[in-house]
Parts: sequence; C-alpha cells; structure tokens
Amino acid sequence: MSFPNHRPRRLRTTPAMRRLTAETRLAPADLILPAFIREGLTEPSPISSMPGVVQHTTESLKRAAAEAVGLGVGGIMLFGVPAVRDAQGTASLDPEGVLNKAIRDVKAEVGDDLVIMGDVCLDEFTDHGHCGVLDSDGYVDNDATLEIYGRMAVAQADAGAHVLGPSGMMDGQIAVIRQALEESGHKNTAVLAYAAKYASAFYGPFREAVDSQLKGDRRTYQMDAANRREAILEVELDLEEGADMVMVKPAMSYLDILADVAAMSPVPVSAYQISGEYAMIEAAAANGWIDRRGAITESVLGIKRAGADTVLTYWASELAGWLKES
Ligand code: PBG
Repeated sequence: MSFPNHRPRRLRTTPAMRRLTAETRLAPADLILPAFIREGLTEPSPISSMPGVVQHTTESLKRAAAEAVGLGVGGIMLFGVPAVRDAQGTASLDPEGVLNKAIRDVKAEVGDDLVIMGDVCLDEFTDHGHCGVLDSDGYVDNDATLEIYGRMAVAQADAGAHVLGPSGMMDGQIAVIRQALEESGHKNTAVLAYAAKYASAFYGPFREAVDSQLKGDRRTYQMDAANRREAILEVELDLEEGADMVMVKPAMSYLDILADVAAMSPVPVSAYQISGEYAMIEAAAANGWIDRRGAITESVLGIKRAGADTVLTYWASELAGWLKES
C-alpha cells in the first residue's frame, strides 16, 4: 500500500499544534466598537433588531468606552441620534450636538487610551434620512453636502476625535475633509475613508438603531453590489485625496472586495461587520440553530483572513473578553 506523501492532518492533531500553525490571529487591538448615543435618553434603550446593542446615554457610553479600554479594544466609532432633525442636518455642526458632545465626553473618560472615531455623515441628522442634503429634485446634492461635511469634520476634531469616518459616499469627500482639517489646525486628525461602501439590505437594523427617517434607498451614492473593480477606483481616489485608512463595508458578503483592497492598499484596511450581519448571527443563535460564540469568532476570523487589518464589529468588547480568556 502506498502512503500519502503529505498529511496536512499532522498540524491539526492538538489544540497547541493548531494554535502554533494558525495563519490568522484575532487580537482585541484589531477591533473597533461601533456605538450609538441618543440625545435626551435617561436609560440605555435596547435596539430590538440588534439584541445586546443599545442606544446609549452619556453615562452608559462612558462606561462602554472604559470597558473597551480595559479589554484592550482598539477603537470606538460613535454615531449620534439627535432629538431634532432638519433638512440640512444642522445639529451635526453644533458643538453641543449629540455626537460632538459624545466625542468630548468619551475623550474626557478615556483620553488617548482608545482611538475615538466619529461618523461624518448627515443621515442621522437629516429629517429625510439621506446622507447628504437634497437639491430641488430630491437628488442628493454632492457638492453642497461636501461643504457641510468639511464643517462637520472640524466640529468633531474640535471635540477631540482622533479619527473621522466619512460614511456618506459623496465624491471628493476625503479631499474636502482633509483640507478643512488642515486649515483648522487639525493636522493630526486621521481619516478612515469608507472607501468601498455598498448599498446593502444588511443595513436594516442600523436604521432602527439611529431611528432613520429614510424612505427609499441610497443607491445613487452607495456602490452597486454587482461591482468589484469599481471598489479599486473608489479606494484609489480616497488614497489620492489623503485617506489614512480605507474601509470595505459590509464585510461578510464582500470578502472578495476586501481581499482585492487588501492586496493593493498601502494603508491599513478596515472592514465593517454591519448591523444585519450581527442580527443574522444573533437570531440564528437565539433559535439554537448555530453555536453563538463559534459563529461570532469564525465570522470575524474570516473577515481578518480575507485581508482586514481592523474590524468594526458590535461584538468588539465581548470578543475581546473571550480573546483575553484564552
Ligand atoms: C451612514 C452609516 C450607515 C451605517 C454606518 N454608517 C447606514 C447606511 O449607510 O445606511 C451602517 C452600519 C450598520 O449597518 O451596522 N451614516
């Protein structure tokens, strides 16, 4: 009888052997926790489509940020839900507005021990729910929106954000934000460009998380799920415009895009495991259909294996806790 020349199973024999030969490792420092704060709340408010995730009060957000620091989590990405919205998203510019204040509060709590990121986008602040302002035909007006993004970026940098995350997919947004930051003296505030952000059905639960007013969809600005090489163009443009890091979003249905971007990007690559990805795994686990911890760990490992340096995930703190244990 002839024997196999190679027995890949040898490296799978024991947990120690598998650990030694693992090609990809998860670390708390690679994880970024997205968090929501809602103006005027007195108690944290559960988000029904994202079991375990809440809209925070100032106090509970500060606690979540401090907990993330203790667990070694790399960063926190903040989203604000304002009490009052208008067509221009004015509350996004107010230094006392919910998001700018949250950035300041988190900064006061954790200082530089956690990378504090702010969402630079108008959808939480507009009464129509779009990521930009509308022209007279109801079309999202790219260049009028850019002007507001520049001011929003400065407001968040003034509040103490280390990194800004423009997520609106307007053309030229990185250049405008970079220029506004330089002109206002925020030369060390970094930009994490949501470079390849796709129009996705998996954003559903996020819309509940921010009480989105959106009717219709974002297909005139977010990318079409059918497109692969266009992601490279979006990343190249953002790099030319001065992006310090680039992101692919969503993650699990876009691992090919992530691998492409990881292969060409000279800057760190993030992937955002979004609300719908979170909800699917939580729902299946709640039904006893999959092993929750196994599925969460495997899903984030898969995103890293595809090429992400950092992963935004609503499980960041819980996963970091598991990683610390083991
Ligand atoms: C826009 C923004 C969205 C998400 C992050 N930033 C919503 C959208 O594009 O519709 C979605 C994140 C998630 O689903 O977890 N500010």
